[in-house]
This record gives sequence, C-alpha cells and structure tokens, in this order.
Amino acid sequence: MNYETLKIEFKDSIATVTLNRPAKRNAMNPQMHRDMTHALEELRYDERAAVIVFTGAGTSFCGGMDLKEFFFESKGTPEYDRIGRMAVEWRGRTLRQFPKPTIAMINGFCFGGAFSFVEGCDLAFAADEATFGLSEINFKLFPGGGVSKALANLFRPRDALFYGMTGRKFDGKTATTMGFVNASFPLAQLEMETMTIAKEIAAKDPHALRATKEAYRFSLEMSWDAAISYAFAKENDITLQQKGAWIDEGIGDFLKGEFKPGLESHGAKKKK
Ligand code: COA
Repeated sequence: MNYETLKIEFKDSIATVTLNRPAKRNAMNPQMHRDMTHALEELRYDERAAVIVFTGAGTSFCGGMDLKEFFFESKGTPEYDRIGRMAVEWRGRTLRQFPKPTIAMINGFCFGGAFSFVEGCDLAFAADEATFGLSEINFKLFPGGGVSKALANLFRPRDALFYGMTGRKFDGKTATTMGFVNASFPLAQLEMETMTIAKEIAAKDPHALRATKEAYRFSLEMSWDAAISYAFAKENDITLQQKGAWIDEGIGDFLKGEFKPGLESHGAKKKK
C-alpha cells in the first residue's frame, strides 16, 4: 500500500496509518483525502488489520485542512466541492461506520479539521504535550465541514463554544478532562500505551467488536423502541456471523469453569 501522503505499516494485527507530510505539519491536502479514502477502502478488507491506529509524522498529528491547497487555491472550483465532500465522508461516515476499531494517537499539533478526524475514531489517546485548537476563528472562519457536528457529538456545550470562540489552545491533559480523548500520556510513552490497548482490542472477537460499535453509534440516533429492536436483530446477526460462538464458546466455557468473563477475555487462559 503505497501512498504519496500516508505511510501504512502492519504489526500484531494492527495497521498504523501515519499522516506523512511532516514538513506541512500533516495538513490534509486534496491528495491526502484521496489517499485516505482509498486506504480505508483497502484496510476494510485487509486481514492483516484488526485495529487501525492513526498518527502523524514529526511534530504534528494533523494541522487540519490544508489552508493553501484546499481553501486558498481550489475555492470556487468543482475540485473544492469534490474534495470537501470526500473530506467529510471519510472522517464522518466511513470512520464512524468502519467495521474495525479505530484509534487516533495524537502525537502533536491537532487543529481545526483534525477534530472531526479524531471524533470519527472510536478511541483517542494523546500526548500530554499535544496542542489542540479550534483555530478557525483565528483566521475569520468558524468550525466548518464536519467540525461543528463533531463538537456537538463529543464536547460539553461550554467547552465547544469557549474554544470555538476564543481559538485558544489546550493540551492533551485538558483534552482528557474534556472527554475529547480517552487518556493522555507523556509523548515518550504514547505509542507504547496506545499499542498495548490496540493489541488488547485486536485479540477480541471481530464480530463482537463491530457489533459493539454499531449498536452504540446507531443507538445514538434511534428512538428507544428502534434501538431495542435493532439490538435484538443485531444479536441474531452476530449469532449467525460467528456460528453461535458467543453462546457455545463464550458462555459455554464459562459454564465449564474454564474462564471468568468478568475478569478476563475468552481464550486468555488457554493461551497462557
Ligand atoms: N495548511 C497548509 N499549510 C500548513 C498548515 C495548514 N493547515 N499548517 C502548517 N502548514 C505549513 C506552513 O505553511 C509551513 O509551510 P512552509 O514551510 O512551506 O512555509 C509548514 O507547514 C510549517 O509550518 P510552520 O507554521 O512554519 O510550523 P510551526 O511548527 O511553527 O507551526 C502550526 C505549526 C500548525 C501551529 C502552524 O503552521 C499553523 O498555525 N497552521 C495552521 C493551523 C490551522 O489553523 N489549521 C486549521 C485548518 S482547518
């Protein structure tokens, strides 16, 4: 998988996708949106990847939309509309509904359009030292594209408007307090901590992981009745997909006294 703007590596059932324009602080230019759209389509079916981790090369996670190549040079052209739609699609719908767990590993700068990238991922871990900012207000814009919706989904109202209206920066520890990321770690430990969690998740049943994501995400937008009906239908779906493994092996092995699901994952004891 060779891309102009991305580097993709596989290890331990984890695909690490690195935004690779460090000299431009990994700003998302039109080529990066094309590359990411294609890469996500490939990773969807790639058996080497049970979990996807996204990070950035150099000092930046992602500098947001490319202010030069996207906003300045293509504004008013059909390409602006095409790339704008693509940018919203992969960070919004594709990531949100991606069949495998996704993790943002925020190693440095994270501005503007990068917020909807982080929000589209299931989990996010940041360096304590990372710098976040809704910088749009600083260049006379507002959090456009999918960013305002990302804020509405994840931010507390006061935080969304405070940071949206001031453009002030915040670090990884503050992002954790706000609930924008799951946790932050010193930069030197970020990769090790993130990969430990990614490996733990990669060892779980892939159908159960997908159902966990889908049941949560779709329930957010459903009525209570529809959500319950969906959950029952999903249960039948996963039973079919796994050929009954959650009942026969998951619950079956518990009943045989082979493991305790409250304390460990299925298969963990057998592997020891
Ligand atoms: N779009 C396009 N180019 C960008 C960019 C962006 N979002 N962010 C950084 N770059 C480019 C700079 O123009 C510069 O290019 P050059 O070397 O050809 O002049 C290069 O990346 C390095 O940027 P620089 O500002 O010198 O690095 P820095 O480490 O001092 O600061 C930032 C990094 C990210 C704080 C700063 O570049 C910045 O404020 N960028 C804009 C961030 C933003 O508002 N993003 C939201 C977009 S929705």
